[in-house]
Amino acid sequence: MKLLLTGGRGVIGSAVIRHVIRKTDHVVVNVDEMTCAAAEDALEEARQHPRHILERADITDASAMRQIFETHRQDSVMHLVARAGGYAGQRLGTCARVDV
Ligand SMILES: NC(=O)c1ccc[n+]([C@@H]2O[C@H](COP(=O)([O-])OP(=O)(O)OC[C@H]3O[C@@H](n4cnc5c(N)ncnc54)[C@H](O)[C@@H]3O)[C@@H](O)[C@H]2O)c1
Repeated sequence: MKLLLTGGRGVIGSAVIRHVIRKTDHVVVNVDEMTCAAAEDALEEARQHPRHILERADITDASAMRQIFETHRQDSVMHLVARAGGYAGQRLGTCARVDV
């Protein structure tokens, strides 16, 4: 199975990816914009793994997402992107669009 997961560099997304890589034979396409919330070391284990594919993209960019969906033809999608904490006061519109 191919899983497309958004926010895979974050706290929850990276934990899900580690679990999928360790416990299943699924392929994970990780779509993350790598904002300041993305943890550099969160994916150390998966970084070079052949079943982990990193796509750097903004999920609010419809054309980029269309291309990613067409390229990977995933079986399922798990949405774990978030904009929280310090973002909320300054960029409420962005938070409302991505953290759904
Ligand atoms: N952390 C927790 O304890 C916790 C608990 C319960 C539920 N949740 C929920 O889980 C989800 C993920 O939370 P988290 O703590 O992993 O967040 P996080 O801030 O650690 O990670 C969010 C990720 O989303 C990416 N991102 C942000 N905007 C993006 C965009 N426009 N396009 C692509 N990538 C983008 C960031 O680069 C980052 O890697 C949220 O919906 C949150 O409410 C989190």
